[in-house]
Amino acid sequence: MRIFVAGASGVLGRAFTRKAVASGHEVIGMTRSARGAAAIERHAAAAVLADAFDREAVIRAVAEARPDAVVHLLTDLASGDSASNARIRTTGTRNLIDAAKAAGVDRVVAESISWVYPPGTASASETEALDVDATEPRLTTIRGVAALEDRVRELPSGVVLRFGQLYGPGTWYAPDGVRADAARAGRLPATQAVTSFVHVEDAAEAALRALNWPAGIWNIVDDEPAAGTTWVPVFASAVGGPRPVVQVGGDIGRPVSNTRARAQGWEMLHPSWRDGFAAL
Ligand SMILES: NC(=O)c1ccc[n+]([C@@H]2O[C@H](COP(=O)([O-])OP(=O)(O)OC[C@H]3O[C@@H](n4cnc5c(N)ncnc54)[C@H](OP(=O)(O)O)[C@@H]3O)[C@@H](O)[C@H]2O)c1
Repeated sequence: MRIFVAGASGVLGRAFTRKAVASGHEVIGMTRSARGAAAIERHAAAAVLADAFDREAVIRAVAEARPDAVVHLLTDLASGDSASNARIRTTGTRNLIDAAKAAGVDRVVAESISWVYPPGTASASETEALDVDATEPRLTTIRGVAALEDRVRELPSGVVLRFGQLYGPGTWYAPDGVRADAARAGRLPATQAVTSFVHVEDAAEAALRALNWPAGIWNIVDDEPAAGTTWVPVFASAVGGPRPVVQVGGDIGRPVSNTRARAQGWEMLHPSWRDGFAAL
């Protein structure tokens, strides 16, 4: 299959590209920079330069690639600003989906996030509504996710993958990532908020398999959603930090169910963050 990957130079994009090429696919990866192009070409894929906000450039890049499928792994987290990320989810996705439509591509797999459900204790499945009653800044994120998912689902074969918190090489949770720095500095408190994780290799594997999954929404998280009071001490220890401070009250988060993706045959190298953190 010829696969156009927007965000191929990113943490998830590089893992996806490596796996896709190893599986015999041809990848054309989109990036804004020569540095990103070099990262893509290291995986024996072709690189094309385009900015997701430059509509005509994206339409041209996808048309020239003549792909069978488009994979959308664009995020904008460099400034840690939820508004920038919401903008790429809204406008970047609009441009990319229009480019796919113009090139006659039905099959799109897109990166979304799993921490979008209303807070609660019952495990959230894909049929549940987004947390539209959230307050800012979370509301901006929820609206960005809703815009991305709505655009993707305009396509007959649009697949949305709601990933858990990515961890592993290159992520915020790598030993050289910002969360590890915070843990070592004693600035990552153990709260009651429940988080669902997924290792970046397992996320990339899901994206590859999802090229053949039915259209719709899929939670891509590991088997063990956990409260901060459970996972933060394990993570801090894995990256050489002290025992974290326990913080009472606040957000309770939400456990997320991976039953649908598991039933589809998705398998993980790290079914729990416990062994994944130990391997960091
Ligand atoms: N996914 C989330 O929402 C989320 C949430 C919390 C933390 N994180 C952390 O963020 C990282 C996630 O990895 P990731 O692969 O999703 O992100 P990433 O490594 O930051 O990659 C982002 C990708 O999007 C591309 N991109 C961004 N803006 C673009 C634009 N205007 N035009 C074209 N391309 C653009 C980048 O390409 P170029 O820069 O090469 O142009 C790059 O390929 C991990 O470290 C994870 O721990 C993610």
